[in-house]
This record gives sequence, structure tokens and C-alpha cells, in this order.
Amino acid sequence: MATLPSLRLAGEPPAAPTVLVVPTRPGDPVRLAGRVPIDVAGLLEREKAKGAAGELVTVPGERRLLLLGLGDLSPGALRKSGAALARRAKDEPDVTLDLRGVALKDDALLGLVEGLLLGSYSFTRKSNPKARALKALTVVVKAPERAQPVVDRALAVVGAVAVARDLVNTPPAEKSPAWLARQAGKLLAGLEVTVRDEKALAAEGWGGTLAVGMGSSRPPRVVEATYRGAPEGRGRHVVLVGKGITFDTGGISIKPNASMLTMKMDMGGAAAVLATVRAVADLRLPITVTAVACLAENMPSGSAQRPGDVIRPYGGTTVEVLNTDAEGRLVLADGLAYADKVLDADVVVDVATLTGAMPVALGAKIAGLFTPDDALAAQLEAASAATGERLWRMPLCEDYRTALESQTADLRNIGDPRLKLQGGSITAALFLEAFTGGRPWVHLDIAGPGWYAGDDDEVTKGGTGYGVRLLVRWLEGLAKKR
Ligand code: BES
Ligand code: ZN
Ligand code: ZN
Repeated sequence: MATLPSLRLAGEPPAAPTVLVVPTRPGDPVRLAGRVPIDVAGLLEREKAKGAAGELVTVPGERRLLLLGLGDLSPGALRKSGAALARRAKDEPDVTLDLRGVALKDDALLGLVEGLLLGSYSFTRKSNPKARALKALTVVVKAPERAQPVVDRALAVVGAVAVARDLVNTPPAEKSPAWLARQAGKLLAGLEVTVRDEKALAAEGWGGTLAVGMGSSRPPRVVEATYRGAPEGRGRHVVLVGKGITFDTGGISIKPNASMLTMKMDMGGAAAVLATVRAVADLRLPITVTAVACLAENMPSGSAQRPGDVIRPYGGTTVEVLNTDAEGRLVLADGLAYADKVLDADVVVDVATLTGAMPVALGAKIAGLFTPDDALAAQLEAASAATGERLWRMPLCEDYRTALESQTADLRNIGDPRLKLQGGSITAALFLEAFTGGRPWVHLDIAGPGWYAGDDDEVTKGGTGYGVRLLVRWLEGLAKKR
């Protein structure tokens, strides 16, 4: 599993840092770099350096010195700068960033620290991993004690993101539903955690998760984990439902090989909701949050569900399964109905790598947000702007609902192709809505940003942990509201 470098604040740089980093800014490079005994202004001019976020300039003859652009000092610029530095320094044992010359707002310092830590994440199963890796980061500020709470917050949240990334990056042979449930138990030790095995699921009628999991030799699980931070009898209960397909072959409606290559990431929603509860508990937010992670492996086999089967997700609604590759909505149907009928949720957010149509529409960096509730949409959009985890609101187009009508059952699990509607992400969201019982609900389709093909700013190759920072920020806002 990944280990993040340690990060400490100091009032003075250590005596002999391996690498010392000094910030530069557009229009103001000389004053900030003034303590360096070289012609910094001339150097920056020769390098055509502008102090843009993440811009790194090496100083000739000064192997230990780096100049780092901080852009406009916005949280986003600082996140980018932090990540760029972490990448450049990834083979150095320690790095010191001297920020005494810059006045940073709390959110900007948070962005910087998040960028430093997120950018230094890596996951490897190489038999001979590199011995040299960044182990220690020191950030020098004028008032370290005052800045410490910001760093503590970043450590809690990025720690949770790193766990989510690890879970997504873990190879699928290791990542059975039972394994993932055990990891969740370890991650959330100390909270109220219940793991339902296939027998408990059958007894209680979790027909969606069971149907998806029945083709695998490794049976499904549902993890329910609650952190109770709200004062007794007061405050809202937030339920986060996560899609946890530990590997999505498509089942009998099998995927072509190329589409399957990244399908160990199909539990990114479950990883995000579990990690979010960990972070919220670490931050001791005065709010009560339950994660429901529906875990199954979607395999083709003699015991797999077939196109044409009729199943009963939690609560008894019947569903005609016409494509076994549209399995995420079946496990989420269980979780959403349970949140409604049993948990009495005040607000439900589901997070899922749900449809291939979502990255077609929004690309690899933007999640789709679906909700009938304008106020909830605005809250999540605000959290998105603050964290840089991008999303875009999509329509729950009423007219498309007829595409989900089935001859045999209450619903079909894919839009009727005869209606030639396209918009597969929208019909998927409309399907989910049928299980929410009309409760305030948000659906986040993270099929795009749950995984990234390379390193880019604070995102690292592979599982991104998308959703953790967004949800934690949103929950912080909710906790403050009361
Ligand atoms: N897990 C996939 C969606 C996905 C695709 C996530 C690409 C990340 C990247 C999902 O279960 C799926 O296969 N959806 C089908 C639905 C279709 C059969 C209606 C899809 O999008 O093709
Ligand atoms: Zn699928
Ligand atoms: Zn899937």
C-alpha cells in the first residue's frame, strides 16, 4: 500500500535541507527570492519564467535550490504548484519549501499541502521498487502554530484519498468483495460497521447485489458504516451509497477486452464513500454519516444472471435485466432503497462509475451531477469549486423515463433501444431515482474522473480517489449550517 511522505511545519528551514525551494510570483520574483545570493531576476528572465503555478526553475551551480512559481496564490494555483514540486522532488529524501516571504490564506495553504501530498502518491507492485523516494516535506511559514490546523485537516483528507486510491489500484484478483469488506472494517475500526454476507443479503432481500454477484465464485458483500457526530437526536443523517463492483467483465453481456482493462476501478464509488466516512470521523465533524457500499464481482459463468432475468432489488421493485453490463444500477438500487426504507436518510448521495457515456460527454476530469434538488446541486457545485474536483450538472429529463418501461417488470435496466434516445447516463440516473423514495438525492457519475491515464497536477495515474475531497468539503458545509 502507498505511504505518503511526512509533512511538518517549521518556523525556520533546517540547517542542511537536501533541496530548498523558494517561491517566485508573476511580477514579484526578485523580492521573494531576494535572500538567494545570485542574480535571480536575470535568471528568471533568461528562463522566460513567469512565476506561473507549478513552474520550476533550477539555479545553475546550486543543485540544492529550486524556484517554484505559485501563480495567483489561489487554492487551485497552490494545489498545482504543490503537486508539481512533489513530482520534481520525488527522488529526493527531503524537501524544504520556504514560504516566509508569501502571505497565504488558509485555503491557499490547504491547497498547497494537498497538492504536495496528493502529487507524491504512488502505487507500485514492482518486485524491485526504487529505494529513493520522497520521505519528508518541511513547509516553512512565519507562524507554524497558527497554520497547524490547516495541515492537520489536509493530512486527514489526503490520507483518506490515498486509501481510496490504494483500494482502486489493488489488482482485481486480490480485490474480492470479501477482501474489500475486510479492508473497510480495518479502515473504519472504531465506528459502527456491519458487513452483510451473501446469506444475510438473501435473508433481507438485497436482490440487486445478489444478482450481480451470482456469476462469481466470490460472493457479494454490503458494508454499512456509520459515524455519529451529530448531537443525539439532532441534526441530519446523510447516507452515501457507493457502487462497489470489484471487477466488471460485463457478465454474460461481456465487454470487449479493451473496455475491460481498467475495470478494477469499478468500485471507485464504494472506495470514495468509505474513505469519506473515515475523513469525516477523523475531522470530528458534528454530523452523522452512513456509508453503504454494495460490493460484487460481475463475472460470466454458469451461475451468472442472464439477459431477460427478472430480479428484485431491496424493497421488492421488480427489474428486467436486459444487459448484465448495466450492473451498477442494480447494486445501487439496493443501497438507495435501504437508505430510504431503513436508514430514514435526510439526504442521499450515491457515487458510482456508472456509465461509459459519462466520460464521452464530459471527459476524464469532470463528473456528472444529477439531482432534482437545486439547493443540493448548488451546495455540491460550491464544494467542487473549492476543491477542484470538477462536476457538471446533467438533466434528469422526464421524457426519457418511458425508455425504462418493461413489459414484464416494473422497470428495465437499460433504455429501450427502439426509442433511440441515447443519453445512457441520463437513463441510468432516472433508473436510480426510482429507488430513492423521493428523498433529497444526488447521483454522481464518476466513470470519467474516477481513473486517470497519467499523472497530472494533483491527480496520479490510476485510481484518483475522486469524490473524497468533494464530499468532505460538502459535509463540512452541512455541519456548519446547523
Ligand atoms: N462500469 C461500467 C461503466 C464504465 C465505463 C465506467 C467506462 C468507467 C469507464 C458500467 O457498468 C457499464 O458497463 N455500463 C454500460 C451500460 C450499458 C450496458 C447500458 C455502459 O456504459 O456501456
Ligand atoms: Zn458494467
Ligand atoms: Zn460497472
